[in-house]
Amino acid sequence: MGSIKSTHGSVKIMKVILTGATGFLGNCILRLSCPWDIVPWSRSMRSIEGVDCRVVDLYDSNAVNAEIALEKPDWIINTAAITNVDFCEEKHLIARRANVEIVSSLASACRAHNVGLLHLSTDYVFDGESGPYEESQSPHPISHYGELKLESERIVLNDLKHGIVVRTMWLYGYTPNARANMITWPLDALLQGNGVNIVEDQWGNPTYGPDLACCLSELCRRNAYGLWHVGGGSFLTRHQQVREMADFFSLDASLVNGIKTEELGQSASRPLISGLITSAVEKKLDWYPMSFKDSLNHLIRCSDFKNRYPQLVCGRG
Ligand SMILES: NC(=O)c1ccc[n+]([C@@H]2O[C@H](COP(=O)([O-])OP(=O)(O)OC[C@H]3O[C@@H](n4cnc5c(N)ncnc54)[C@H](OP(=O)(O)O)[C@@H]3O)[C@@H](O)[C@H]2O)c1
Repeated sequence: MGSIKSTHGSVKIMKVILTGATGFLGNCILRLSCPWDIVPWSRSMRSIEGVDCRVVDLYDSNAVNAEIALEKPDWIINTAAITNVDFCEEKHLIARRANVEIVSSLASACRAHNVGLLHLSTDYVFDGESGPYEESQSPHPISHYGELKLESERIVLNDLKHGIVVRTMWLYGYTPNARANMITWPLDALLQGNGVNIVEDQWGNPTYGPDLACCLSELCRRNAYGLWHVGGGSFLTRHQQVREMADFFSLDASLVNGIKTEELGQSASRPLISGLITSAVEKKLDWYPMSFKDSLNHLIRCSDFKNRYPQLVCGRG
């Protein structure tokens, strides 16, 4: 593992297979301007973000092994997962196949081919009684999604010499092809003059997708094996996040109604007082997460965001 495949000027180039390339974080990783050779994998799409993509069935361990033997990457970054927490609560077997069995199969292949595996996990491994949390604190999931993610972490951390697990939370940002997130759907509603109900009893540090992608590439480049917490630079409630976003874009923040989590009647329990303390990764990489406001200032300079929301960036971007 860690062998250098080629060089780019004087910079050594890593080769990275990216699973879940069609997802939000996958899109953010594909957009990084980073000197690496990236091979996106998807289960259905042949092209993503203008990049050719390899269609690979992650449930087929023979195919996974053969592809890794062919590509000989330095790292696999596994962002593929079922991320719908309530679906995972209701469909245990389907959720286990995607969120544990795929990780187990990738880990076996990585071990066999001496490849590093960076796997994404979540603050939902904690119960949300007393966040924000450091890496050394004991997990105690309160949802099936959290239990499965914890199980998958242990596969990577216990069975692999070259494994990295990154716990992150509340991803946001904008890419044209990814699903809605805590910025985009409230923005769309507020722009139409519609009110939004946002929970005011869930605390955390929302994470800007491009910022996380940058940190992941650096963890791979530095072979920073082990467990890391990577969240954003601002601690706030989801309700505060959306109100701050409304204020930033001069939208009507009075349309952002605060509600309690229990009012939503969701299948899976959510950690309430959560958050991820990032001092370990900051010290390791000399990397500091963006504050929520800085991330919005970054967002309004992105061309896709400007194209999608020209009325919001006019005169500012
Ligand atoms: N989003 C968050 O707020 C958040 C918070 C904490 C941790 N995380 C973790 O961060 C990672 C990335 O999250 P994300 O928000 O980018 O997720 P996402 O937007 O939901 O994307 C998930 C990706 O996984 C793929 N996928 C799902 N099931 C699959 C299967 N059975 N076989 C192959 N691919 C499959 C999806 O492919 P299709 O497009 O084909 O469906 C998609 O590309 C996940 O591990 C997640 O648990 C996310």
